[in-house]
Amino acid sequence: MNTDYVAFEGVDGSGKTSYIESLTNHLEKKQIDYKIVREPGGSKLGEGIRDLLLSHEYEVEPLTEALLFSANRANLVEEIIRPSIEAGIKIISDRSAFSSVAYQGIGRGLGFEKIYNINDIAINGFWPEKVILLDIDPEISLRRQKVNDRIGSSDIDFFKKVKDGYLELAEKFENDFLVLDATQDFEFNTKIIYEWLDVDST
Ligand code: TYD
Repeated sequence: MNTDYVAFEGVDGSGKTSYIESLTNHLEKKQIDYKIVREPGGSKLGEGIRDLLLSHEYEVEPLTEALLFSANRANLVEEIIRPSIEAGIKIISDRSAFSSVAYQGIGRGLGFEKIYNINDIAINGFWPEKVILLDIDPEISLRRQKVNDRIGSSDIDFFKKVKDGYLELAEKFENDFLVLDATQDFEFNTKIIYEWLDVDST
C-alpha cells in the first residue's frame, strides 16, 4: 500500500463503512498492520466529544461545533494517529478533517478557508495523505440510510451543500483525492480503490 494514512469521506449514508470493512479485511489477508479510527470519536476523550456533538440534548452553534470537531481531532492525532504511523501501522480513517471543511465550512457556511485553517492548526498539518470520496446525491444516500443523530437529521439542503463542499475539496486537492460514484457497483469501486492505493488485489 502506497500510503500511511487514508481517509474515507462522503455524506451520511454514502457507504464508507462497507468499503472500510472490505479494505481492512484485505489488508489483514496481506498481513499489513492497520488501525481503523473514526471521527468524531476514535479515542476515550473523542468518544466523549462525539456524544456532545451528536446528542439532541445540546444546542451547538456552528462555530462551537467546528471547534469541538477540531478538538476531537487534535487529541486523536496526538494520541493515536501519529504514534501508530510512527510505529509502522497504517491508519484507515472513517472521516477526517476534510469532513469539517465540507460539513462545517460549506454545509454550515462558516467558510472553506476558515475551517481548513482551524483544522490545520488543530492537527498540526497532519492531514490524511489520500482521501477516497464516495460521491452520491444525498437524496439517495439518506433514503438508503436514515440517520437520527443531531447532525445526520439536518435537512436535505444542508447535505447538498456538504456534497458540493466535498467536490470543491476534490478539485482543489485533486492529486490526493479519488472520487468514486457511490451508486456504482461495489466490486467495481473496490478494484479502483486497490489500484489507487497500490494494494495487490489478489
Ligand atoms: P457518524 O455516525 O459517524 O456518521 P457517518 O456514519 O455518516 O460517518 O456521525 C458523524 C456525523 O458528524 C455525520 O453526520 C457527519 C458529521 N461530521 C461533521 O459534521 N463534521 C466533522 O468534522 C465530522 C468528522 C463529522
